Amino acid sequence: AADRAFILGIPKAELHLHIEGSLEPEMMFALARRNQVALPYDSVEAIRAAYQFTDLQSFLDLYYAGAAVLQTEQDFYDLTRAYIDRAIADNVLHAEIFFDPQTHTARGIAITTVFAGIARALREAREQRGFSSRMILCFLRHLSEDDAMSTLESALPLRETYADLWNGVGLDSSELGNPPEKFAHVFTIAQAMGLHIVAHAGEEGPPAYIWGALDELGAERIDHGVRAEEDPALMERLIQEQIPLTVCPLSNLKLCVVKDLRQHNLKRMLDAGVCVTINADDPSYFGGYVNDNFIACAEAMPLTRSDLLQLAANSFKASFVDDSQRDTWL
Ligand code: ADE
Ligand code: ZN
Repeated sequence: AADRAFILGIPKAELHLHIEGSLEPEMMFALARRNQVALPYDSVEAIRAAYQFTDLQSFLDLYYAGAAVLQTEQDFYDLTRAYIDRAIADNVLHAEIFFDPQTHTARGIAITTVFAGIARALREAREQRGFSSRMILCFLRHLSEDDAMSTLESALPLRETYADLWNGVGLDSSELGNPPEKFAHVFTIAQAMGLHIVAHAGEEGPPAYIWGALDELGAERIDHGVRAEEDPALMERLIQEQIPLTVCPLSNLKLCVVKDLRQHNLKRMLDAGVCVTINADDPSYFGGYVNDNFIACAEAMPLTRSDLLQLAANSFKASFVDDSQRDTWL
């Protein structure tokens, strides 16, 4: 049996969490009613029953449809507040939260609404509960680079207002057919602005996409990256340069990236010396928050207590905070 109490007791950071993916069916239902948005489900149970995925795209279709209930600043605040409550319950001290502005601006929601609602919840949690966080703006890779560029431009005027929170950009959505190179220009600009860089790569896509994220985008961390193991030279680089992987085991299971968690390579990569971390990705869709991910891994793999502590230490080591803040955790 997994070391539940031990896992719960470990302080951790969460580095791969899409705030839109923490929208629980109950809140989706409530916001649909509040905002008079039609949903193709007549109950919370029907929403949950629909969450059976065969691959990344089959999930993304429902994830983008669900996000349509998010309309007002208060909605983004409520969503973020609910995530923070769950994170604190899991002994998460620091979270670097992904958000997808294009999912909302495409529906006519102002990017300022998205920033303001998320940031209000994060600042309140920092002041009232000592919860540390950052915001990472992700570009949707199924859209054009021009669209990503306009999104970055529309966020630029918010840089000062959110300087305490927004410190990075990322790349998510449909990986296959949308290689990192497609976004080289926008990431060059983001990097020149001093923003940290991450990218989803090697979730469904080949190791070449991880190389591309590192060399063409300047990624400092790779989100997922589980397919790195297919390329020994890439593994060598990840280990040498201690490039962190934000692994999301329950996500990999639900999206059929792995058939069974017992076949997941998390423990092998950890043993090989890769800086791997455990994260929830989209907890409301994949059936678990970060501790559920730790517990599922501890049940499926021969993880020792020392491994569990290493995974949590890696999450702080890989975080985008200054060293003085990091030192308070390590
Ligand atoms: N957006 C939200 N979750 C994602 C995932 N696991 N992969 C790519 N894009 C995503
Ligand atoms: Zn993700």
